[in-house]
Amino acid sequence: MKEVYFDNNATTQIAPEVAEAIQPFLTTEYGNPSSMHNIGGRIKKHIDKAREQVAALINADPDEILFTSCGTESNNTALRGTLLAQPGKRHILTSKVEHPAVLEVATYLGTRGARVTQLFVDSDGLLNLDDVREAITDETAIVSVMWANNETGVIFPIQEIAEICAEKGVVFHTDAVQAVGKIPIDVKKTPVNMLSLSGHKLHTPKGIGALYIRKKTPLKPFMLGGHQERGRRAGTENVPFIVGLGVAADEAAKYMDDENTRVRALRDKLENALMKTCPDARRNGHKELRLPNTSNISFEFIEGEAILLLMDAEGIAASSGSACTSGSLEPSHVIRALGVPFTAVHGSTRFSLSRYNTEDEVDYVIEKVPPIVEKLRKMSPFVGGDVY
Ligand SMILES: Cc1ncc(COP(=O)(O)O)c(C=O)c1O
Repeated sequence: MKEVYFDNNATTQIAPEVAEAIQPFLTTEYGNPSSMHNIGGRIKKHIDKAREQVAALINADPDEILFTSCGTESNNTALRGTLLAQPGKRHILTSKVEHPAVLEVATYLGTRGARVTQLFVDSDGLLNLDDVREAITDETAIVSVMWANNETGVIFPIQEIAEICAEKGVVFHTDAVQAVGKIPIDVKKTPVNMLSLSGHKLHTPKGIGALYIRKKTPLKPFMLGGHQERGRRAGTENVPFIVGLGVAADEAAKYMDDENTRVRALRDKLENALMKTCPDARRNGHKELRLPNTSNISFEFIEGEAILLLMDAEGIAASSGSACTSGSLEPSHVIRALGVPFTAVHGSTRFSLSRYNTEDEVDYVIEKVPPIVEKLRKMSPFVGGDVY
């Protein structure tokens, strides 16, 4: 059966260049980069190179890059570490539509004495900058707002939020797990203090991430036990995947134009066709201020999970809500935050593409999805009005 993978915001295919670069570090190059001998020293050079490659993707300095195990760890490090380093400040400002790797950390810190404010978004999924400005107080330890949303792809005004925070002298962290590699990011121009990224959204294996930390940002490590990463994260480095992340960063830079032209055109073709051929379909999230690879469509009156199952039977992999919320029948907190009506919130379906997708695959999905929607509508208790 044909397989079409349109779930790249959940995870991505490993790039062949990455898989190849990792190989020696799974076999002959096994040294510990902290060792004094030659075998260890050799490995350290590869980590240094990867740090330069990752830094280059976001125009950071290499010593501002901290390798972690994933985006979730990067977010935990940013939020917990900032609060630990500023005992007098107890306010966390974030948004309603963050990934659970920020929301749940903030909620936990809320049970340990922090005050948490979650900013609302409008029906396009956008934030109001005045709300940001007004919510910051002398007590604010950190503002954490994502660069781009994993479910809708909506891009937040990070330049403006970073400038507001810089002006007020407040630490600003952005979860850029979905943005890095898809849109240009330059931390020399955008004054964020910290930025999280994750390898497996960038065509590496799962289990590697990074946190950009601007110099002089108040941060205490929460992983203790060794001097790796200049004392900022204890634990022997995941050498193969760090090397892989470096190569993935190089490749992402090479494909940035493709992502914003060809992939964007594929996404638009898919979205326009589905919105046209499926009655009562609505796009979730702002049309323009969006990642080029993501389309989130609600097919009203039917369940996203049912659509996913029938698409799966045709070999099409997509998602309802985020990878984390799928598997539960709870509607997505992101789609709910947009104020999407009840009859549409459950039918939200996310298609997320990557550089490996083709027009042929888009055409296949355009052919297969409308009959699935039509079939489910016929079975829907919400259509016809005789049940509810
Ligand atoms: C916006 C966002 N932040 C954080 C994460 C967590 O990243 P990881 O899976 O690397 O822990 C994800 C994963 O879906 C995400 O989309």
